[in-house]
Amino acid sequence: MTSASERPQVQFKHLFTPLKIGAFTVRNRIVSTAHLTAFAEGGLPSERHLNYWASKAKGGIGLIITEDQAVHPTAATDPFVIHTYKDACIEPFRRIVSAVHEHGAKLVAQLWHPGSIFYGAREGSLPLWSCSAIPGSFHAETAHAMEVEEVKEIIQAFGDSARRMREAGLDGVELMGTHGFLIEQFMSPRTNERGDEYGGDEEKRLRFILEVIDAVRAAVGSDFTLGLRTSGDQFQGGGLGLQDMKRIMPKLTAAGKLDYVSVTVGAGGAIIPPMYMPAAPFVYLAAGIKEVVDVPVFCVGRITDPVVAEDILAKNQADMVAMTRANLCDPELPNKAREGRLDEIRRCIGCNEGCWGRLYEILPITCALNPSAGREKEMEITPASVKKTVMVIGAGIAGMEAARVAALRGHSVSLYEKDEQLGGQLQIAAKAPGRQDMAEPVRYYEYQFK
Ligand SMILES: Cc1cc2nc3c(=O)[nH]c(=O)nc-3n(C[C@H](O)[C@H](O)[C@H](O)COP(=O)(O)O)c2cc1C
Ligand code: SF4
Repeated sequence: MTSASERPQVQFKHLFTPLKIGAFTVRNRIVSTAHLTAFAEGGLPSERHLNYWASKAKGGIGLIITEDQAVHPTAATDPFVIHTYKDACIEPFRRIVSAVHEHGAKLVAQLWHPGSIFYGAREGSLPLWSCSAIPGSFHAETAHAMEVEEVKEIIQAFGDSARRMREAGLDGVELMGTHGFLIEQFMSPRTNERGDEYGGDEEKRLRFILEVIDAVRAAVGSDFTLGLRTSGDQFQGGGLGLQDMKRIMPKLTAAGKLDYVSVTVGAGGAIIPPMYMPAAPFVYLAAGIKEVVDVPVFCVGRITDPVVAEDILAKNQADMVAMTRANLCDPELPNKAREGRLDEIRRCIGCNEGCWGRLYEILPITCALNPSAGREKEMEITPASVKKTVMVIGAGIAGMEAARVAALRGHSVSLYEKDEQLGGQLQIAAKAPGRQDMAEPVRYYEYQFK
């Protein structure tokens, strides 16, 4: 990665320009897209959520989308997913909204039904509900093809969940229409095998999402932001490609009921692009959708550098830039970028260890480089009551972080390393093909130690 100090001073003309998105205006163009945290307790938003989202808001981000929140009991029986179908979620969300608003960011809830895709334990769970009797990808369980009354029940559940989020004071809701989940199962010819009014030709396959949009609007009114997260390309045989989505998106936005479209990658693509992928590989999908809709369009995918984000906006390829893991790795990224402190940013390296990797073990997320992610209160760096002389032996990543934190707490720190350079095993790991970013934390700590 090029060090920011090697580049000319960047003027962020676009990144810090406010934008109106439906009923609210964001202070800048940086968005943290939805990501499941597994912080929910008993299906309800927790203190951990509050601290996590408040730290992003404090770090200067414009917009935070929550995480996939279940709209119906068939969407989640797992306690680590927020049960938005329960009124009990309203009160904890009120506290969260107030903490986020205190720091000037906006908060939008993602409404989700997984359909045939279900993670977590299946024992004791309700049957999977989908448009058709298709196999679930995690547990190979065949989904129940919903009867029309059940389809209507789910549509109503989206509306009811949106109403709860409005009551809780959130700034909007986003429909989870990608990554192979229920809305996309209905939309795609790959998964929708119905022969009734909800399946068959494209108009019928779009009926479910259009009725969900109507139900949400009926529940929240016109002065509340409603967005759609969608695939620019499913990247799956028999699925919807970019040309299909360019035909479909105007049909979904035509009625003026959607306030933004957030374009990501379908389940067949690199939903969470790893280290070996280049920066911003999927911006072309957002740019393609932006050509055909007249609402703000979000782009996403391994955008970790504010300079890259600025360039996307300057080229008019998108209106909002997601820096999701980038912000997980350094919640202060927006403030640092705005103040021109680019070298101080701790860059996400796309290792997918602390975030995505932990979800696979049904553990709450954190970040391999930012241990305080998701533990903001417990790991808050406070001045030490007794100042000591601290000797840290070994300048691998753990030693470097220990030295950094001890110094910030006011101790007098010496860091010892037998090699000539810092980084320990990171230096070895970075030599493998596609793994150069393993050396990025070394740059970060060297700068911190100056
Ligand atoms: C731990 C984790 C959980 C995620 N969960 C969701 C989710 O609940 N809903 C969603 O739309 N996307 C989810 N995503 C995808 C992110 O919103 C985003 O598209 C992805 O991380 C790529 O963006 P980035 O490179 O800026 O991180 C998740 C990503 C991660 C890392
Ligand atoms: S764990 Fe790795 S991929 Fe995830 S946010 Fe941290 S640095 Fe990025």
